[in-house]
Amino acid sequence: MGRAWGYWTVGKLDLLRDYLDAFTTASSSLSERIYLDVFAGVAENEERHTGREVEGSARIALSIDTPPFTRLRFFELPNKAPGLDAALRADYPDRDFLVVPGDCNHEVPGVLDQLKHVAWAPTFAFVDPDGMEAQWRTLEALADFRSGQKTKVELFLLFAAPHVHPTASR
Ligand SMILES: C[S@@+](CC[C@H](N)C(=O)[O-])C[C@H]1O[C@@H](n2cnc3c(N)ncnc32)[C@H](O)[C@@H]1O
Repeated sequence: MGRAWGYWTVGKLDLLRDYLDAFTTASSSLSERIYLDVFAGVAENEERHTGREVEGSARIALSIDTPPFTRLRFFELPNKAPGLDAALRADYPDRDFLVVPGDCNHEVPGVLDQLKHVAWAPTFAFVDPDGMEAQWRTLEALADFRSGQKTKVELFLLFAAPHVHPTASR
């Protein structure tokens, strides 16, 4: 059984799929497109109310094919990263992706350094924490990645309830 999500999360993932599809179509004249999933999640997911299997953000990004992202980097905590890597590798053996285990707030800057030579490529980042895990320095690193280019990293940044009301819980 996968991680169970409410209908609002399934709606969020539908929006992500449509946006990523449009993003790669709009950037199809270039030879590279980068996708960064800062809180990548797990390989198996389902809708809580129906038990229906749903694709998480990592699988959605890999499934976009008109045209595809050429380099994908997924960040996830060490207890979940190997499972995600194995499942994605089985389904997408030939794609240029990495599942980076660890705290994304530590790992993102180094991975962006490794991608610096292709910072000219249109880049999308999905920042989808459970709560308050995304640190400001991580957003700064993403904002700096394409400095000097015409546009910055485009991103979806999800706000958990505590972001907008300090006493709220999810
Ligand atoms: C809301 S879920 C992500 C769902 C996923 N984006 C999707 O749509 O399928 C948040 C994920 O972030 C992971 N996470 C939490 N803190 C993290 C951190 N500091 N670095 C990397 N991943 C983290 C959690 O293990 C969890 O799987």
